[in-house]
Amino acid sequence: MHKDQGKTGAVKGCFTKRHVYVMGCTTLLCFSVGYFWNTSNDIWLDTPTQVSNTMSNHILEDLLQIELPRRCDVLVMTPWFAPIVWEGTYNAEILNEQFRQRNVTVGLTVFAIKKYVIFLKKFLETAETYFMVGHRVNYYIFTDRPEEVPKVELKEGRNVVVLQVQNYPRWQEISMRRMEMINYFSQQQFINEVSYLVCVDVDMRFNDQVGVEILSNLFGTLHPGFYGAERQSFTYERRPASQAYVPRDEGDFYYAGGFFGGTVMEVYKLTKKCHEAIMVDKANGIEAIWQEESHLNKYFVYHKPTKILSPEYLWDDNLGRREILKKRRFLAVPKNHAAIRNK
Ligand SMILES: *[C@@H]1O[C@H](CO)[C@@H](O)[C@H](O)[C@H]1NC(C)=O
Repeated sequence: MHKDQGKTGAVKGCFTKRHVYVMGCTTLLCFSVGYFWNTSNDIWLDTPTQVSNTMSNHILEDLLQIELPRRCDVLVMTPWFAPIVWEGTYNAEILNEQFRQRNVTVGLTVFAIKKYVIFLKKFLETAETYFMVGHRVNYYIFTDRPEEVPKVELKEGRNVVVLQVQNYPRWQEISMRRMEMINYFSQQQFINEVSYLVCVDVDMRFNDQVGVEILSNLFGTLHPGFYGAERQSFTYERRPASQAYVPRDEGDFYYAGGFFGGTVMEVYKLTKKCHEAIMVDKANGIEAIWQEESHLNKYFVYHKPTKILSPEYLWDDNLGRREILKKRRFLAVPKNHAAIRNK
């Protein structure tokens, strides 16, 4: 969440589109119910079954054993049937039981390069309270200052693993190199130690539960500045010369660079592709507008996430209206950009 400056302009427009959002939500719910009916009857219909929104809510609730939010101004499923996770769209008890039985270990990667080590204490302490409670966790801390990693008391089944990496003079380079480092360690180490990777920014604190409901083969998070915005306002890379280029008529959402993940294999593939694209750009003397976030967004256009996290999972009070959320689970820590970035 260190690159939020300059993106705030898009926030203002997004709430005037609420009616469009409600209609979209209704259509998607109808469509998804149509999908369930089609598959259960083994009949494929070209057009979505016309059912009322209330009815589709009830059917979804029966199927998923959950209670959906009564207000339907949140999108709960993508057109390719990937769930969008909001508070109230999943059953934490059932999910926790499933993942406990599988004895899953989750890797949380975080980069604390240069002065960013100062964020580690609060990050780790709040993660111990809210992140994957009751599950096995490895915190993978990439840093150039291993001696400055704070000692935080950890619960059973949770470990801190410090990975020493080099730093780079420019924060943009540090930010982009994360793809390369996650990729390298995925095949060297993570694949042998964890089932899933969750890759996040360090200048953040957990503020509410972030649990196994986020886990899926490949997941991304809706950027808090753009979750209700139209495609035209997404800040994708628009210069065709960059490998991160996304044409005006493509793209589904604008995803945040500060929270993505999936199985180790899927994260390996994602980071490989993004790193290679970043290197091609570098050779061509171009840098994508939002660095690795632009490349991540490009990747998700052509490799659809199997689950999407709502902005509850990456929130910044400066970027959106908090009233729209029931939970703010993972929050940006205010900081002085200039003072921290290059120290
Ligand atoms: C769960 O996994 C960990 C590490 O992979 C292992 O040490 C532990 O014995 C496992 N527990 C059970 C109950 O299988």
